[in-house]
Amino acid sequence: MVGIFCPQYLTIVALIGLVSSFTIQTKQNEDVPVVVEELLNLLTVNSPASIEKVEVQRPGYPTENFDWQGPGNVGQIVGVSVDSEGRPVIFHRGDRTWNYNTYDDNLEYEEAFEGPIQDATILVLNSITGVVVNAWGEQIFYLPHGLHIDPFGYVWLTDVALHQVFKFKPGSRRPDLILGERFTRGSDDQHFCQPTAVAVAKSGEIVVADGYCNNRIMVFDESGNLINKIPQQNEFVTLRVPHGLAILDQGDVCVADRENMRIICLNVGLRSNNDINNNNNNNNINERRRPPLTLHQPDLGRVFAVAAHGNILYAVNGPTSPMIPIRGFIMDPKFEDIFGSWSPSTGNFEQPHAMAISPNGSELYVTEIGPNKIWKFDLVRGNRQDDIWNNLE
Ligand SMILES: *[C@@H]1O[C@H](CO)[C@@H](O)[C@H](O)[C@H]1NC(C)=O
Repeated sequence: MVGIFCPQYLTIVALIGLVSSFTIQTKQNEDVPVVVEELLNLLTVNSPASIEKVEVQRPGYPTENFDWQGPGNVGQIVGVSVDSEGRPVIFHRGDRTWNYNTYDDNLEYEEAFEGPIQDATILVLNSITGVVVNAWGEQIFYLPHGLHIDPFGYVWLTDVALHQVFKFKPGSRRPDLILGERFTRGSDDQHFCQPTAVAVAKSGEIVVADGYCNNRIMVFDESGNLINKIPQQNEFVTLRVPHGLAILDQGDVCVADRENMRIICLNVGLRSNNDINNNNNNNNINERRRPPLTLHQPDLGRVFAVAAHGNILYAVNGPTSPMIPIRGFIMDPKFEDIFGSWSPSTGNFEQPHAMAISPNGSELYVTEIGPNKIWKFDLVRGNRQDDIWNNLE
């Protein structure tokens, strides 16, 4: 085992050297200590012999906060994200569900006659108490799916009945940007088909998972002009229901490739990603063409959601088969390594649908679509968690 990890060890040591010199030059960049921490985490996790020598924190381990209680009396909670103040924001379906009457055999939405959901579909929650502190998004959506709060504070929402993606200022009634055509599915560059999720890069690009029927990833510039599609015609990447998205600090986009029961992380050409690669003297084109990183193991099951902190990825699966527990996972995409799993302590996940991590990396939320609930987990770090980590092997 130690032999296997040796090349990684050397890489990490080299990178720590690189990042340390960076720290000296750019003290104002608060991300750098995080990067160092992540690298030290990798070092410790992958190289047990060094645990005694290096006293460092590990990636946060999700520990259920059972005092926290989200709102009752909500519909299926399909989306969650955390705003810059650390407040979880959820997207729910009110009185709607996705059932066998929702679409006909041609994927035509059959329930437009009901009009949009009357309730406020977007609820902002207090991170300490769980109470609703703000509610908006009434009379807009028909079948909510994904919610993402981007690095600039905008709220992105997808609706699988409208086949559209929306960008809102929080609380606004009028979207700043709409992608896709209302109630019109399609597979060309102007249309989506049941888009599931959005993630926006620090460099501003908009990544859309499109979705249940197109099985592709679309990348737009910040004004909404298409700049990339995955897979390209000559590319061998097959997605089966890309259901959730997360962007790693290193710039890869990780996709919960639900029906393929795996996660893939790929360079979709984000500016931030390619800047990093240029700094590392890599050839841009080769980097773009490298095969995706793949996270897969027999009991991973159908992956519904992913969330990232730094370059560590968290995921949650959903009902797959009686043999496969419904639970969370922790993984290191760079080494294609799924190194831990986690679950609530006071109950079981039943139908998890979405997951998000607070910007400061101390809290993780999982939402479910039946029963309709939201769980809060504290991401517990530090050496007192040694027992937990030792049990992960
Ligand atoms: C992170 O943010 C949450 C929510 O705002 C806050 O309660 C917590 O104290 C913060 N943790 C750290 C370590 O800053």
